[in-house]
Amino acid sequence: MNETPVSHAENTSVATAYRGRVARDYDEARFETPQGRLFSELELQQLNHAARRLERGARVLEVGCGTARFSASLARQGFDVVATDPSADMIEVAAGKCAGTETLRFERMEGGDLSFPNEAFDFVFAIRVTNQTESEEYALRMIREMIRVAKRGALILVEFVNRQRPLGKRARSVRLSFGQIGRVVQDSDCSVVSRHGVLVFSQSVLDRVPDVLVPWWGRVERLAARGFWPWASRGYVLLRKR
Ligand SMILES: C[S@@+](CC[C@H](N)C(=O)[O-])C[C@H]1O[C@@H](n2cnc3c(N)ncnc32)[C@H](O)[C@@H]1O
Repeated sequence: MNETPVSHAENTSVATAYRGRVARDYDEARFETPQGRLFSELELQQLNHAARRLERGARVLEVGCGTARFSASLARQGFDVVATDPSADMIEVAAGKCAGTETLRFERMEGGDLSFPNEAFDFVFAIRVTNQTESEEYALRMIREMIRVAKRGALILVEFVNRQRPLGKRARSVRLSFGQIGRVVQDSDCSVVSRHGVLVFSQSVLDRVPDVLVPWWGRVERLAARGFWPWASRGYVLLRKR
């Protein structure tokens, strides 16, 4: 494992939030229930929507990889993946799970300060990360960094907690809007390939669905997302760098 020292990550509340037991129990706490698995499947569907457009062997960067559920999936599909996260403990769990996967390597770093040269990757993505950053400004800076390290013609997948959602609870985490991402696109040399939404009826509603009804609820969510994606809990924008 190639570990880059992270100057200030150890001291941020975000990095400390993903330490020790939280890191070790991360997968079990989130993806072992039918509800958690459905959420993860809906996210994976968004990731694969982008990955289908890539050539085999494409260079992929994940920002805020956590325990690497997405990077591991892409490495298995034949992509050359670099998975990054500021939390040493999350990377340790991820690296343990993915030992022996030759096309996947880990590096410790902050999403707002990527230590890669310009135009290094064919695909750059971050899921469940912008909302975990310290501020809206930082989340937007991270998105600009993701665009910077993408090659010309490369794809960038941005995911965010959607502030355009009507009646959404005031989340403590950072929320963004499709409009804000649109403005970042205007300032950088990118075009929007597609926009989608996940969880129109929110995660708290999903968590209340009885286990036996979760497959049926998955169909409801997929159908609702076709028409109501602008108001879904999680927004997805796929960009292409010109
Ligand atoms: C909710 S977890 C999501 C992990 C993974 N993306 C997933 O969906 O399974 C959030 C992750 O973002 C990472 N993170 C927090 N702040 C970050 C930052 N400034 N830059 C990059 N990653 C960050 C955390 O360490 C944690 O691993």
